[in-house]
This record gives sequence, structure tokens and C-alpha cells, in this order.
Amino acid sequence: MQVLGIETSCDETGIAIYDDRRGIIANAVHSQVALHAGYGGVVPELASRDHIQRIIPLIHKVIDEAGSSAEDIDAIAYTAGPGLVGALMVGAAVASSLAFGWKLPAIPVHHMEGHLLAPLLEADPPAFPFIALLVSGGHTQLVRVEAPGEYRLLGESLDDAAGEAFDKTAKILGLGYPGGPALSALAEQGHPGMFEFPRPMTDRPGLDFSFSGLKTAAAITIREAPDSKQARADIARAFVDAVVATLCIKCKRALEQEHLDNLVVSGGVSANKQLRLALHDLTTKRGGRAWFPRPEFCTDNGAMIAYAGYLQWQRGGPTTEHYGFAAWPRWPMGKEPRAGV
Ligand code: KG4
Ligand code: ZN
Repeated sequence: MQVLGIETSCDETGIAIYDDRRGIIANAVHSQVALHAGYGGVVPELASRDHIQRIIPLIHKVIDEAGSSAEDIDAIAYTAGPGLVGALMVGAAVASSLAFGWKLPAIPVHHMEGHLLAPLLEADPPAFPFIALLVSGGHTQLVRVEAPGEYRLLGESLDDAAGEAFDKTAKILGLGYPGGPALSALAEQGHPGMFEFPRPMTDRPGLDFSFSGLKTAAAITIREAPDSKQARADIARAFVDAVVATLCIKCKRALEQEHLDNLVVSGGVSANKQLRLALHDLTTKRGGRAWFPRPEFCTDNGAMIAYAGYLQWQRGGPTTEHYGFAAWPRWPMGKEPRAGV
């Protein structure tokens, strides 16, 4: 059984095929980073236009790479939300049209559920239940995962997501877009303890996050610090240390509260080396383990959507027949989607 996965929620066109016996058999991503770099962030209209140009050639490429043909595909999974509506509509339109033409089900997938399940594509996946930390450009969430499709939100960011704080701080440091990887690289050259930033919302109970104050503290420090390469690296180091420490404190709290030892970490920021190391240490000390996606499945990709779609279909979850054309820019995970804002 093969599921074609289509991801177009933001600035990557991601296409992949999941085979239920062999796993991911083909995967291709076209990143729009170069397209948006000059603007300092994603320009939604340009994102949609680029998805339109890339999506069909990329689908051909992936089907060829897999050695498959249209007849081998059994279902088409696509990101139905959350995300940029114009970008989502490109994937939804292509997926629904192919499904109609090929007489297959089209499966609308939640983007964050895709991220959440991506580490399960690796060897030796964790048993359920576990805690998932989702850290992307748009979301920071702690979720108790009982089984595929059974999610309980334990806490989330009340303002900026972790990735957003990385990107905004990187922008102030002149590191371009998207700033997360560049900021992490700069932090590796910084000395620890030269600057100190708050660990937001760790001094009160609960599992919510807030990263906008941290970003502001970093902005003020950058303005007032000496204009040297080392000072900028030291600030980057203090910023990354603060984000990592905050995420670790909340993960530990979630594991203790839920009496669990295993943690799954995913989303773009899960590519961060410092975070991986710290969460690995935290979980092994507790007698558990942390699971991460391979680097190319941390950021947006079609593989996670193909896999999440396959699992959704297996458990008899909704297909487009239930909803018609599905593109939902705002869609809380685990809830019924609604059209509109
Ligand atoms: O999951 P993702 O590709 O897209 C969303 O669903 O938002 O995440 C993108 C985010 C960006 O904010 C990017 O700066 C951040 O992930 N990111 C990183 C790293 N790689 C990507 N942040 C910190 N360290 C990294 N190595
Ligand atoms: Zn994402």
C-alpha cells in the first residue's frame, strides 16, 4: 500500500511516498528560502505562486524515484492546515484533483500531527504513550500522545513560537532568514554566561510558554552591547541557552506530571544541536529516551504528511469525502476543523 504525501503549508513544497512495507520510498523537497530571503520573511503570495510551479514536476520526480506509477498509489495525503491559506490551497487542489482523477481517497492531514509523527519513521520508534514537544516556526506545544490520533494538549506558547523567537532574534543580529540555523551556528562560537536572559514562565506552575519577552530582552542587549563579533556570538549563546533551558524545564515538568519517561521532539527547532543534546541528557537521566526526526524530516516535508495520512486512513479517519475541499489556515490539533479565520 502506498500513500503520496503533499506538503505546501508554508515555504517548502514537500512530496513523498510512504509504503506500508518499506517505509518512505521517495522524498523530495523544494525550499523557497532563496525566494523569500531578500524580504526577511515569507511573502505569502510568492509562496503560493512557487508551490504552483513546483508541485507537479516534484510529484513526477517522486513517483519516478520510487519506481512507482500512478496505479501503485492507494491514497493521497495532503496538509489541510494550519498554514498560509493560498499555499495550502495549492496542495489541497492538486491532491483533490489527483484523487478525483485516480479514484482514490484524499486525506486532509494536520501539519503539526505530521511533525509529531515524523520521529516514528526512524528505527526503533517509541511505544505509546509518550510526551511530544513540538517546536516549529509557528508552534510550541507539549502534547500527551496516547496513540496516533489521540492527543491531549498540555501547554503551548501564549505568544511567539520558539522558532519565531529564533528567527526574530537572528534578524536583529543581521543573520538573515530563516535565522534559526544561523543563530545556532553563531551560538557555538559564543562563551556561556557572558550574558544572561530570562527563562520565561518557569517560575510558575503550568506548561505554557512565552518567548516574546526573551526576544525583546535579546533585542535590548544587542542594541546596548559592544559591536563586536564575539559579543554577538556571546549574545547568541545566551539566547540559545535560555530557550533550551526553558524547553527542558517544561519537558521535565510534563514528564513528571504525566508519569512518563519518553519524549518525542519534532518541528524545525528540533534540528537544533544544543536542544537535542540537552533533551537527550534530561531523558536518559530519568531512565527514558528522547526521539528526534532525521535532520531532513525536522523541517517541513512530504514524508511526515504521507505517514500521518497513512495512519489516519488506517484508523478510519476522515477523507476529503467528509469535508469537500479542505484548506484550514487555523486548525487546533485534535479538534474538528472549521473553515474561515
Ligand atoms: O517546522 P518548520 O520547518 O516550519 C513550521 O512549521 O513552522 O520550522 C521552521 C522553524 C524556523 O523558525 C527555523 O528558524 C527553525 O525552525 N529552525 C531552527 C533550526 N533549524 C530550523 N531553529 C533553531 N535551530 C535550528 N538548527
Ligand atoms: Zn512545520
